[in-house]
Amino acid sequence: MDQLIVKGGNPLHGSVRISGAKNSGLPILISALLSDKPLRVKNIPHLQDVTTTLDLLGRLGASVELDESMIVEVSTRDVNNFRATYEIVETMRASILVLGPLLARFGRAQVSMPGGCAIGSRPIGLHIEGLRALGASIDVEGGYIQASAGRLRGAHIFMDTISVTGTENLMMAATLAQGTTVIENAAQEPEVIDLANCLNGMGAKIEGAGTNKVMIEGVDYLSENSHTIIADRIEAGTYLAAGAVTGGDVTVRDVQPENMVAVMDKLNDAGAQITLGSDWVRLDMRGNRPKCVNIRTAPYPGFPTDMQAQMLMMNCVASGSGSITETIFENRFQHVQELQRMGANISMNGSTATVAGVKALQGARVTATDLRASACLALAGLVATSETVIHKIHHIDRGYNCIEEKLSQLGARISRIHVNGNISHSSNLAQSA
Ligand code: EPZ
Repeated sequence: MDQLIVKGGNPLHGSVRISGAKNSGLPILISALLSDKPLRVKNIPHLQDVTTTLDLLGRLGASVELDESMIVEVSTRDVNNFRATYEIVETMRASILVLGPLLARFGRAQVSMPGGCAIGSRPIGLHIEGLRALGASIDVEGGYIQASAGRLRGAHIFMDTISVTGTENLMMAATLAQGTTVIENAAQEPEVIDLANCLNGMGAKIEGAGTNKVMIEGVDYLSENSHTIIADRIEAGTYLAAGAVTGGDVTVRDVQPENMVAVMDKLNDAGAQITLGSDWVRLDMRGNRPKCVNIRTAPYPGFPTDMQAQMLMMNCVASGSGSITETIFENRFQHVQELQRMGANISMNGSTATVAGVKALQGARVTATDLRASACLALAGLVATSETVIHKIHHIDRGYNCIEEKLSQLGARISRIHVNGNISHSSNLAQSA
């Protein structure tokens, strides 16, 4: 299992290019199942979850081509298998996104129930109820969702809870349904808009993506398309937070600042000078220590839960005290005990963490538990007085493309150790992904 070694003390300076959004790429690649014509996707990030998604599509019978400029072309003309097995769903719960497209195009699907994960139970009842409303018959037996349908029929669906992949699954299914579908209380994330734009490029008729009411007029088929996915606003926010934590001056490039307002507002409250252009954001701490901020996560356009761990970590070394309330997932504070082991002053009360900032943390051996928690531990290492060793960093590779290379580019002292049995060697640069 690889480990990251981080040595603190260097304020980060410089600029870094942000990759394509993981949470756009996954549903968009899977949307290729909706058409027998090829889908070409640009700006796909080199991430473990993308590899897993392409592997899943391949197992269903799709052909996947990658050209030298990292443009992925997916053709699902020859799909002949409709089963997403436990092995693959267990490694990536977003595999559930194949359910809607397989039902809409082929009328059948068997998808392993995605279990819970470190951050919560992650139920999928909204996906199942919504697909039933569209006319699918769905049973759960032997740990698998057994689904079948004739042509899906448009429906008026109210989602009890705002769900990103729930909205995406139903939106994809509805594109080929007979008639019109309305999804009320839909997720408004930029990744939902990006998926809708890609589907409309394939000939779908979707209106209202990005609002809480999405209308889809079903069509008989979808055609080929070429789509460039948006930048990863969470990756961008993570590097800006790294600049804030270290009192540095960091610019993130190739981003959509309009998707990052809630995060920029909080970094501004922390004392950062934020400037921005059409596709870049600069955070300059002017050498100052950040100030603690209060945060309550919420569905978009509220403060993103995927940035909660990173901002909690900033509070750990900021002046004053601040409270962080997590409203989306029931167990998304596993990074707290790891930060406490590094000397952070955090007290928990239900879903709220109250943090009293300290001047610096002490390096320690820590363990990553989920994707964003592992990023927050890397940030903690950047301000620790001694070396930090982060274990189980496969979590980080799921969502961050070459994190040690990008942080090194900004002046961080970070390297990856490949621990193979008793032999370990280090490479200062990330494996080219
Ligand atoms: C998406 O997960 C993202 N993943 C998550 O990013 C992100 O944290 C989350 O949205 C919230 O923004 C992808 O897009 C692949 P939800 P998703 O359904 O869709 C409840 C990362 O770090 N719920 O929006 O699975 C659920 O329990 C990952 O990149 C139901 O009750 O999250 C949660 O409390 C982590 N029933 C809330 O809704 C359902 O059927 C929001 O979950 C579905 C969800």
